[in-house]
Amino acid sequence: MQSSAKMADFALSLPSFFSMSHTEVAPKIIDESRQGEVLYFAEDKAINHSGLKQFYIESYGCQMNFSDSEIVASILSGNGYSPTRDLDEADLILLNTCSIREKAEETVRKRLKTINKVKLARPGSMIGILGCMAERLKKSLLEEEKLVDLVVGPDAYRDLPRLLHQVEEGDKGINVYLSREETYADISPVRLESNGITAFISIMRGCDNMCSFCVVPFTRGRERSRDPFTIVSEAEHLFEKGYREVTLLGQNVDSYKWQNPETSEVYSFARLLEMVSLVHPDLRIRFSTSHPKDMTDDVLHMMAKYDNICKYIHLPVQSGNSRILSLMNRTYDREWYIHRVESIRRIVPECAISSDIISGFCSETDEEHKDTLSMITWADYSMSYMFMYSERPGTLAARKYKDDIDEEVKKTRLNEIIALQNAVSKAHNLRDEGKIYRVLIEGDSRKSQDEFKGRNTQNKMVVFGKQDGYKPGDYVNVLIESSTSATLMGRIV
Ligand code: 5AD
Ligand code: SF4
Repeated sequence: MQSSAKMADFALSLPSFFSMSHTEVAPKIIDESRQGEVLYFAEDKAINHSGLKQFYIESYGCQMNFSDSEIVASILSGNGYSPTRDLDEADLILLNTCSIREKAEETVRKRLKTINKVKLARPGSMIGILGCMAERLKKSLLEEEKLVDLVVGPDAYRDLPRLLHQVEEGDKGINVYLSREETYADISPVRLESNGITAFISIMRGCDNMCSFCVVPFTRGRERSRDPFTIVSEAEHLFEKGYREVTLLGQNVDSYKWQNPETSEVYSFARLLEMVSLVHPDLRIRFSTSHPKDMTDDVLHMMAKYDNICKYIHLPVQSGNSRILSLMNRTYDREWYIHRVESIRRIVPECAISSDIISGFCSETDEEHKDTLSMITWADYSMSYMFMYSERPGTLAARKYKDDIDEEVKKTRLNEIIALQNAVSKAHNLRDEGKIYRVLIEGDSRKSQDEFKGRNTQNKMVVFGKQDGYKPGDYVNVLIESSTSATLMGRIV
């Protein structure tokens, strides 16, 4: 979940409430501008909608959820449904939900109430909740509030056709079973709202880490890795279709581990990285998220070896203080983290590092908060995702510790973190002025059709004037002439 310290919140385009900050360059986490985005096929031309029922899907939360929506779209498309952008004409309305902070859940609940009005006007349409809220709230959504017809957890999407049939027969459809094996390895995701240049590939699911603040291990289940050969073939397929960048996604990519059932050969994340980087030198590889306790030098050496593995690591610190890190159950301390960053600097000197940071975790003192501030400066993050601690029911922290930091104090600390990160990002970008970067053109810039946007290897957004002969998907060299805390500006050279 990354950048200029724009203050923003979790969902839709709500006004800021200091619960997170992000930038549009983040591969992993919550891209605030995409919250509640209605996903639609990137390649609509070939679809014959006649005779098909229409589904409408809104996604919330992290990139993993957006990727899951592409799997859901693929399953539905093979089962008599076609996508629509129009809520009012949908036979099936799906919300792919997020539970990571309380605010995210509140947003979805509000949205459900609006959608229910649509349902009243259009009897016969079905409403479904997918994703992380499914497991947590199945009872209240389905039984008490009667807001939805369908509740499907992140490991049960293959069951959607059966569940839909059940709903059509007048029953409720529910499956929140969390699997130890499901990776959807064989399902080719339908690319939704894609720019046709950059895509995400899910390489693993779930998380075994049990950070004490985090609900993910409960909502997405145990960690499992996907067959590397299916990952490589997805990357090859994307390259053939014109994509030039893939981001390998997992809650903790460094613990990727797949054992060939026939040969017992073990595939680590470093090995997977190499396999994907060999698909084609013009296919860029990114990955997210790395956990400081698991990030190995092998991965760093692989990054240094291949030009097409981007020099950027999202390495969430969460807190700069060792006592808080221990309460968070992150299983590393400040010194360990510093050591990891030093290894990155030694092995991949040009690598940019970004972070996730939580303010006001249980019992955090002002002094301990200052350790987080000093870490931002020391680690020189290109950007960070910054959050106020939000207690989640059922987590280790909710059971063991008191959520005892006053909201105002959490907010003040978050503001300090954001202000400092902003300054650090700005200085980081200022140092890029005068440098030439190879940039992959992703499309028009947000502000002008006369400008392209794309990212450099360090995942920084670069905006530059168009020149004849260049199109999205091309690589260009851009001289950086100016910058803000979020963007580099320059010209093609
Ligand atoms: N409160 C605040 N932030 C949280 N995150 C995860 N759980 C919580 C919580 N309960 C943040 C962490 C994580 C990112 C995805 O979200 O920083 O890395
Ligand atoms: Fe949550 Fe920690 Fe797993 Fe990330 S590594 S998903 S923060 S438990």
